[in-house]
Amino acid sequence: MTDRHFTDEPGNLSDARNPHIQDVIARRFSRRSLLASLVAAGAVAGVGAAFPLRQVLAAGGSTLAFKSLALKIDEKHHVAEGYAADLVIGWGDPVAKGAKPLDIASQSAASQAGQFGYNCDFIGYFPLPMGSSNSEHALLAVNHEYTNGELMRPGFKDRIENAAKSDKAWTEVELAAHGASIIEVRKEGGTWKHVADSRYSWRVTGTTEHAISGPAAGHERMKTSADPSGRKVLGMLNNCGGGTTPWGTFLTCEENFNGYFGGDAAKAGKEEKNHKRYRMPTMDKSWYGWARNHDRFNIEKEPNEPNRFGWVVEIDPYDPNFQPVKRTALGRFKHEAATCVVNKDGRVVVYTGDDEAGDYVYKFVTRGAFNAQNRAANFGLLDEGTLYVAKFADDGAVEWIALEHGKGKLTAAYGFASQADVVIEARRAADVVGATRMDRPEDVEANPVSGKVYIMLTNNTTRGEKVPVDKANPRAKNAFGHIIELIPPGGGGKDADHAATTAKWEMFALAGNPADAALGAKYHKDQAETGVWFAAPDNVAFDPKGRVYVLTDQGSAQKRNKVPDGVFVADAEGPARGLFKLLFACPIDAEMCGGTFTPDGKTLFLSVQHPAEGTNFDKPNTRWPDFKAGMPPRPSVVAVHRPDGKEIGA
Ligand code: FEO
Ligand code: CA
Ligand code: CA
Repeated sequence: MTDRHFTDEPGNLSDARNPHIQDVIARRFSRRSLLASLVAAGAVAGVGAAFPLRQVLAAGGSTLAFKSLALKIDEKHHVAEGYAADLVIGWGDPVAKGAKPLDIASQSAASQAGQFGYNCDFIGYFPLPMGSSNSEHALLAVNHEYTNGELMRPGFKDRIENAAKSDKAWTEVELAAHGASIIEVRKEGGTWKHVADSRYSWRVTGTTEHAISGPAAGHERMKTSADPSGRKVLGMLNNCGGGTTPWGTFLTCEENFNGYFGGDAAKAGKEEKNHKRYRMPTMDKSWYGWARNHDRFNIEKEPNEPNRFGWVVEIDPYDPNFQPVKRTALGRFKHEAATCVVNKDGRVVVYTGDDEAGDYVYKFVTRGAFNAQNRAANFGLLDEGTLYVAKFADDGAVEWIALEHGKGKLTAAYGFASQADVVIEARRAADVVGATRMDRPEDVEANPVSGKVYIMLTNNTTRGEKVPVDKANPRAKNAFGHIIELIPPGGGGKDADHAATTAKWEMFALAGNPADAALGAKYHKDQAETGVWFAAPDNVAFDPKGRVYVLTDQGSAQKRNKVPDGVFVADAEGPARGLFKLLFACPIDAEMCGGTFTPDGKTLFLSVQHPAEGTNFDKPNTRWPDFKAGMPPRPSVVAVHRPDGKEIGA
């Protein structure tokens, strides 16, 4: 979820301009030497009739065998021919042993705390038994980013009315619908199923007690009236993307935490500038109404409480008694995700982006090395290391600047008295060291085959106003987003040195409709001919062959763009590098999240988040996935696989 849902940024305001068919034919024939030679050799007889031209072209180099879905939005989800999409679990389904089924008419915090939460997002796949690479039996750890009260219960026109009229009891329901679910899943008889009443299933909510570790733990700025220790906090909020560690834990990221708070930052004492930098809303603009019902979300009464959100949280999904830990060494901002790679020297590198217009791309490099022999030895790894922020030069160079107290301007003279100040105000630390302001960094993840790091930059319609365009963010009023490849030194694959302080970057794709030259979109040269395109890249995943799966979130712009949110897949290298096909399309007004493969590459787990957003319980524009009167749409996890048992994409 993004601020976009509240501000409704403009998307593509013009419809796709359909070029004249003669122009299309002329372009195809002038550009396709492959086709020309095939025709000359008599290999393709009657191309236009028996074989649609675009399919012949796509076959000439793409390793992706499936036929792309057309760009169409309706009430249902769609998956490419030859694929199945199993519904695994949705909002309100019982998770904890003995939990009640969803009863719309009598929702309570207690029942919701045992059920699958709202707005599923990141999905971590944790094989069972632990340590195996079982691709048909596992725990899924699933984030619940936020709630849409106006879709969860009758009688509320929109989210603004829901926020304005939420009483304390409803706020408690919403708190219980946040956090994460850990569920057991198994593939049986060719279908993925949620295992009910599993001893492995448990919930983390917006009121679960979390520990705080790392440089900010126990600091004065982390103390509140409820927690004078500064070392424990109730709940994790707005958990969007995430990651999995090499030792089998779940990293879940707090993103738009600001929206839960309310109040006048000028009345928050020493934290005024801090709260403004993180865009705390005033009480009347608070997104959910919680700040009226709970003093801890009122920044005038508890000015330090926001400092306890905006972190990467580590959870051991295999242990239902595990206390989640907020790892403050990784910095405080609107973490989209936190993806790990074991560097060739054994240190663990965590890539993470700050999803705000004009904010930054970060990485954290552990001081210690991953211990593959002793799982328990890795549980403190994320508490010690170096946080870096990226600077992208116009000549294609990347510099990773360390955010270390005492270095450069990160001193008391600039308001950083310790590393605690640096991580609590990571954004300001990145400002003063001169990092590059980016177009809303979302998921950042290394391709396991090439070692290149893919950065999803979802959009930034304010680019070119206060912050000028640059080579890495080249379009003013960037409504469609783009994807950067960061290339670490040292070589490809496992030789890539992710801990290095330098790298190179290249543009992988500039999103938008390539048939509209005015938009400056850039993909593979044949993309326009396929009629497929995307906007607002958000999450990214890679199959075992290193192909790139881009998951999109256009918000309400999907209807203007006439493009569904979904999974757009391309080769990362080779002749069809950057030539995208649509594998899965969401129902109307949903965004596509998750994107996690089983180790064998045969199943892709996806989260369909906020179907019907922008409408309400009483008049939803889809009742996906149940399509039953009286049952609202339910955000749900689906498992995409092939009934023929082959790998995705093959
Ligand atoms: Fe929650 Fe940046 O998407
Ligand atoms: Ca998003
Ligand atoms: Ca996201």
